Amino acid sequence: MAQHRLLTGKVVLATHNKGKLVEMRELMAPYGIELVSAGELGLPEPEEDGYMFSENAAIKAVAACKASGLPALSDDSGLCVDALDGAPGLFSANWAGPGKDFGPAMARVLAELAKRGATTPEQRRAHFTSALVIAWPDGHQELFEGRVFGTIVDAPRGTGGFGYNPIFQPDGYPETFAEMTTTVKSGADEALSHRARAFAQLAAACLRKPA
Ligand code: IMP
Repeated sequence: MAQHRLLTGKVVLATHNKGKLVEMRELMAPYGIELVSAGELGLPEPEEDGYMFSENAAIKAVAACKASGLPALSDDSGLCVDALDGAPGLFSANWAGPGKDFGPAMARVLAELAKRGATTPEQRRAHFTSALVIAWPDGHQELFEGRVFGTIVDAPRGTGGFGYNPIFQPDGYPETFAEMTTTVKSGADEALSHRARAFAQLAAACLRKPA
């Protein structure tokens, strides 16, 4: 099995998404990493033309690593709704349009489900996926993936976090992601969100808490 590499010092988070930055800063907090975002550094956003979350994550991590000369961590993620053949999936961000307005994007998910007569929780199954890639300046890369399964609720609930949080209720919880604090969403005891689950694997492989 390939050797994992420890991540230390200053790291670029290859995102312009403030919601992801907030969650990743909280997850990274115990590990003594100085996290600066691609948005804060004014790095350009590369075209995400991969066919998988992992490919797009690698595109973003490599671009930020090359532009900054620092190790870069990226998250490519999305919401996959079973009854919509996995949509919006890789296009989760695109459904919000250039204004990044998730009101219409959530309304579209709900309208598409209604069009297909998907009214019961069983017919409204969905999951979030997160692919995390770390790219180092010498070309080394590591990939970690996490998923969380649940249902699309009838109407948006809650205001916390970002993206499709208000319409996704993870299995085993009465709240949507938007009705939870970031700490609960990441998992107070055990990783809950797709991002927290991918991150738990990343942390075990590539991070150490300072002594
Ligand atoms: P990208 O990975 O930047 O291409 O975009 C992923 C998109 O998926 C985000 O803009 C959100 O719309 C959605 N998404 C990913 N993770 C979450 C989450 O934890 N909550 C809500 N929406 C999410």
